[in-house]
Amino acid sequence: MFSGSVSKDDLLSRFQKARILVVGDVMLDRYWFGDTYRISPEAPVPVAKIERTENRAGGAANVARNIASLGGQAVLLSVVGADDAADDLTSLMQKDGVKTHLLRDSSINTTIKLRVIARNQQLIRLDFEHSPNHEILHLAVDSFRKLLQDCDVVVLSDYGKGGLTHVTEMIDMARNAGKMVLIDPKGNDYLRYRGATMITPNRAELREVVGDWKSEDELTYKVQQLRANLRVKSILLTRSEEGLSLFGEKIEHRSTQAIEVYDVSGAGDTVIAGMALSLAANLSDSDAMSIANIAAGVVVGKVGTAVCTWNELACSLF
Ligand SMILES: Nc1ncnc2c1ncn2[C@@H]1O[C@H](COP(=O)(O)OP(=O)(O)OP(=O)(O)O)[C@@H](O)[C@H]1O
Ligand SMILES: [Mg+2]
Repeated sequence: MFSGSVSKDDLLSRFQKARILVVGDVMLDRYWFGDTYRISPEAPVPVAKIERTENRAGGAANVARNIASLGGQAVLLSVVGADDAADDLTSLMQKDGVKTHLLRDSSINTTIKLRVIARNQQLIRLDFEHSPNHEILHLAVDSFRKLLQDCDVVVLSDYGKGGLTHVTEMIDMARNAGKMVLIDPKGNDYLRYRGATMITPNRAELREVVGDWKSEDELTYKVQQLRANLRVKSILLTRSEEGLSLFGEKIEHRSTQAIEVYDVSGAGDTVIAGMALSLAANLSDSDAMSIANIAAGVVVGKVGTAVCTWNELACSLF
């Protein structure tokens, strides 16, 4: 539980001073809403007449907006295409109060997940994605080196799209500069993340690297082995309806705070955002975990990839 070691005003002012550098794969979640009245004469598929469109920030961009919404300073570094989607992401981030360094690579498209929705049903999802080219990824490492100086904590948000090709180098640079590094992992090669401060897999992501577990003891054994192999300070397992577990020198659990569950998408982004901001504000791992858990509980109670505001957090905490 939250220790109450800081007052509400103190916590807000610490959050407002905290600077988090978020690096990784950004994406644009695009929604086309409409209606269908007929089947196409060209193929046995419905025809959708689009009436409204909506854009939402996804991946690392969603982590950054979660930090800003809680009152922190977020700087987002990523590679995008030279296209409309990159403009849309930039203006979304501006609106949410996130500073951006989006490097444009004209040889790729910005990652987009386009959903066509008619009568509240998803008709199709279209994914556009390309890995950034090598030159621009090197530029991203150069930008990272510069931006590192002006941040307190680094978040690396890996969605497996190639933006974190140089992740090991980035971790080393950040650790040498004395910054904590939190990673939302992807894939089965966690050796790339060696030396990080904290890794925050969900259950499926963890299973991919350590296999399944049949008991809490077996889970603990496997996670602690992984933690030792990777030389990371802690592993925070996000367990959906089972809440959160932090495996470090000590083990701590939090059960979920959600009162109602509407939409769980993006809750993992909220957890890493809450942890990073709290650690940048000099809170203990244990308090950071309580804050991340409350924020995630708020977010799953809202529709769409939502965020938790400072006021909502403060209402639960104090
Ligand atoms: N069904 C649920 N009921 C209650 N709380 C939930 C539920 N799903 C998620 N949460 C809250 O959100 C946190 C993160 O969820 P989860 O472990 O599903 O992350 P995730 O799979 O990385 O999410 P995503 O990738 O969609 O952002 C959980 O630790 C919990 O606090
Ligand atoms: Mg996740």
